[in-house]
Amino acid sequence: MGFIEDGRQGDVVTEAARRRTFAIISHPDAGKTTLTEKFLLYAGAVAEAGAVKARAGHRRAKSDWMALEQQRGISITSTALQFTYRDRVVNLLDTPGHRDFSEDTYRVLAAADAAIMVLDVAKGIESQTLKLFEVCRARSMPILTFLNKYDRPGRDPLELLDEIEEQIGLRPTPVTWPVGIPGDFRGVVDRRDGSFVRYSRTARGASEAIEERVDPVSASAAEGEAWHKAIETVSLLEEVGSSLDMTSFLAGESSPLFVGSALTNFGVRHLLDAVVDLAPSALPREDLAGVSRPLAAPFSGFVFKIQANMNPSHRDHVAFVRVCSGQFTRGMTVMHGQSGKPFSTKYASSLFGAERDTIDVAYPGDVVGLVNASGLNIGDALYEAEPVTFPPIATFAPELFASARPRDTGRHKQFYRGLVQLEREGVIQVLRDPEGDPMPLLAAVGAMQFEVFAYRLANEFGAEAELTAAPYKVARCTDKITAEKLRKVSGIRVLARVDGTLLALFDSPFRLQRLESDHPDWRLDHIVSAGVVP
Ligand code: G4P
Repeated sequence: MGFIEDGRQGDVVTEAARRRTFAIISHPDAGKTTLTEKFLLYAGAVAEAGAVKARAGHRRAKSDWMALEQQRGISITSTALQFTYRDRVVNLLDTPGHRDFSEDTYRVLAAADAAIMVLDVAKGIESQTLKLFEVCRARSMPILTFLNKYDRPGRDPLELLDEIEEQIGLRPTPVTWPVGIPGDFRGVVDRRDGSFVRYSRTARGASEAIEERVDPVSASAAEGEAWHKAIETVSLLEEVGSSLDMTSFLAGESSPLFVGSALTNFGVRHLLDAVVDLAPSALPREDLAGVSRPLAAPFSGFVFKIQANMNPSHRDHVAFVRVCSGQFTRGMTVMHGQSGKPFSTKYASSLFGAERDTIDVAYPGDVVGLVNASGLNIGDALYEAEPVTFPPIATFAPELFASARPRDTGRHKQFYRGLVQLEREGVIQVLRDPEGDPMPLLAAVGAMQFEVFAYRLANEFGAEAELTAAPYKVARCTDKITAEKLRKVSGIRVLARVDGTLLALFDSPFRLQRLESDHPDWRLDHIVSAGVVP
C-alpha cells in the first residue's frame, strides 16, 4: 500500500494520536446535554455553561432549515462537535435521543472509537442505554461509565455496580468513588493515589467547580464518617479486584467508572481527563476483508450519516464522513468507492446542528460534512489513491412497521421515486415481499423515521403518503433456510430489503421467544449488517 509522499505522513500519525472520537450513550434525561455543555466549559470552548442550550434555543427560534424540526421543537440533525482539551482534539458525536431516536443513532456509533455511558444514579440502566450499549458491544467498543446526578438522592452506588455487571455483563472498575451519599455529595476518592478531591459548587454550575485535593489524614479529620465509609468501600473494591484494567477496558469488557454531577460540575474534569488519558486515539480501521488500513495511508473515510434538506433554499444533501486514514484537505478530489467516480470536496464543513464552519483539513478520527453529496450513501467509502471498502454499518432489526401507499393514486410515480431515494439514504427501511403483496412495508427503529419519510416525500417529491401501522411487534434477520421454515408458521412474514437481507416479522414477541427456545439452530439475529446477504 502506498503512503503519502510529501512529508505529511508523520503529521497524520501524530494528529491521529491526538484525536479522541467518542459518543455519549444514555437514556433521555440522564444528563447527556448537560454533560456535553460541561465538557465545553472545561475545555474552555464556552466561557459559561448555559451557552449550548441558549444556542440551541436561538437556533430553533431563528432556523428555518427544516420546518419539521420547528414544528416539533426537536433536533433532527446530528451533532459532530469538536474542541481541544489538553492539546488533544476531542470529537464528540451526538447520538440523537428522545423522540428523534432513529437508525442514525446507531450509525453514529460506527464513527466513534469509544463511548461514555451516562447513568442517572437514581435510575441505573434504562432501556435506551441498553439498546445503545448493545451496538457498542457488537463492536467491542471501550466504554467509560459516568454515574450522574450524585448531588441528589439516588441509589446505593454499589448496587449500581452490580446492576451494570448483571444486566449488561460489563465489569465496572471505579476510578473515583464518592465521599458522601447521593444528595450529600462532598467529593471523590481518586483511587489512583488515594487522595480526596473535595468540590464546592459555583452559582448555577455556570463555571468550573472549585476543587481541592486533600490528603487522606486531613480528609479523615474534615469529613469523618463519610470519609471512613468511602475508604471502607474502596478497600472492598480493591479486594474484589474491581480496579482499572486497560486491557479489558480497550476490549470492551470492563468499564472505568466515575461518579459525579454534571449539573454542579462535580467529577466532570476527572471524566474529561479520562477521555484523553484512557480512551483510545483514532486507530487504523479495518476494511471489509479485515485488513487494517494504516493511518498514514492515503485519505480514506466512510459515510455514516446522510442529512438532507438542512437548508431548504438550497435543497441540501450532506454526507457525514468519518476520516479513517490520511489527511483530508478541502478541495481535494477523492474517489467514491461504490460508483468508482471522482467526488469533489470543495464544500466541506464541520457541522454543529445547523451551524457550519468550513473545514480545511481533517485527520483520522475527525468528521467532515460534505455538502451537495447526493450520490453518496450510508456505508460508502471515499478514498485517495488506494481503493478501500469498509465493512457495512450494522444496525438493529427494526421495531416499528407501517404499510405505505400514495394518498393520490395519480402521484404513484413520484411516490415510488421518493420511496427508492429515501430508502437509499437510509431514512427508512423498505421491506418487500418478492412473491406476494406488491405494497411495500416500511420499517424503522424510531417513530421519527416515519415522520421524516412522510415529510420529505410530500415536500421533495410531491407525493403525500398514507401510512398505516402494521401489526408486527418485532423482527429478526434470518437466512434462506430458516426463512423457508418460518414461512410455514402462522403470524410470521418474511420480507426482503433491497440489499437482499431477509427479515422475519413476528406479530408477538412471545412467538419469537418460543421459536428461539424450540429451534436454537434457526438463524434469528437481532443485529443486521446492512448489505450482507445471508
Ligand atoms: P439528556 O440530554 O440526557 O436528555 O439530559 P439533560 O442534560 O437535558 O438533563 C435532563 C435533566 O436533568 C435537566 O433538567 C438537567 O438539568 C438535569 N440534570 C443533568 N445533570 C444533572 C445532575 O448532575 N444533577 C441534577 N440534579 N440534575 C441534572 P430539566 O429540569 O429537565 O432541565 P433544565 O430546566 O435544568 O434545563
